[in-house]
Amino acid sequence: MKAKVGVLSAGGDCAGINSVIHWLVYSALDKDLVPVRGIMFKVIGIIDGWKGLMEVKPDKKASLNRWTMPLNKEIVRTWDRYGGTRLGTSRMNPFDPRDDKSDLILENCNKLGLDALVVIGGVNSLTVAYKLYKKGLKVVAIPKTIDKDLGGTDYTLGFDSAVNIITEDIDRLRITAGSHSRIFVVECMGRSAGWLALEGGEASGVDIILIPEHDFVIERVIELLSMRRKGGERYSIVLVSEGAKLRGMEPIYERRGRDGFGHYYLGGIGGFIAEEIQKNTNMEARYVALRHLQRGGTPTAYDRRMGRKFGVAAVDMIVGEDFGRMVSLTQGEITSTPLKKVLDKLHLVDVEKFYNTLNYQSLDQIV
Ligand code: F6P
Repeated sequence: MKAKVGVLSAGGDCAGINSVIHWLVYSALDKDLVPVRGIMFKVIGIIDGWKGLMEVKPDKKASLNRWTMPLNKEIVRTWDRYGGTRLGTSRMNPFDPRDDKSDLILENCNKLGLDALVVIGGVNSLTVAYKLYKKGLKVVAIPKTIDKDLGGTDYTLGFDSAVNIITEDIDRLRITAGSHSRIFVVECMGRSAGWLALEGGEASGVDIILIPEHDFVIERVIELLSMRRKGGERYSIVLVSEGAKLRGMEPIYERRGRDGFGHYYLGGIGGFIAEEIQKNTNMEARYVALRHLQRGGTPTAYDRRMGRKFGVAAVDMIVGEDFGRMVSLTQGEITSTPLKKVLDKLHLVDVEKFYNTLNYQSLDQIV
């Protein structure tokens, strides 16, 4: 039997996606496995995520060249070493109520002759994948987001690389913070979940961690910093998730509209905190937003390995006709979870278990 598999990455990029694609292609095209599986696979990459499937005109050669890329071992040979996604990505929503393109996607998948589609995505992209699955598309999903907020898995690709970047950048900031006796407020990503701040903060040993799951009080932040200064510390570092908020307030958004899924762009809470410190104390404060630096760079060894395992598992799921599910890591094992369950609930920091709400610190439990 012959089978054509499409693969796309959608939503925010991150380190580890290219590793998935590399190993998915290597496993699917492994000649030794053809007699065992009874399937001869072809793999085709879709350019720029859902946008590619909306824009492609399958009967026009130029359009096919623009929006699809037949993949083989030679093409993807070195991809696993690089961050981002060689297939490109976008934040387009095919189920946008103002212009629903989901039927067009189904039609294009059909015309492209796709027997299955592997979607590498976060919460929004996998919601799209699940809706398309319910409309009949044979979907297998792979979790990726530096926020690590997807349910149904203990790991999402890109998280480890992002935590390493946060740690390295805070190491750098310590030097200048110490020279100038300043407070540095560092803002990391994390729209709904504080995992990046919590684990990045643990790794870099910051003095205050602020996460979206627990609303903070600015007076307490200032009190904690003042106590450190009185105790003789030259400098302090505060690490805050972009989605963290003051008690009783909304998160701080940028003024540049919303993305395709209706979300405002978060950003600015770190600046607000630095200003408050500067206004209310005699300590000098500076603000650094790490933003997309956290999503760039080379994947760590862990993200390369997880990308490999997720990519191979996706092919196994297609062979087993395990559609409508996401590859997942659960208690150290590679398994899979139904997309419905994945999307039921976000994976947030359990404040009681992991977070000290008095000192705004980690409780140092193993995550
Ligand atoms: O990858 C998820 C995420 O990192 C969120 O934490 C953040 O709000 C968002 O992406 C920013 O995405 P964009 O690339 O669209 O600016």
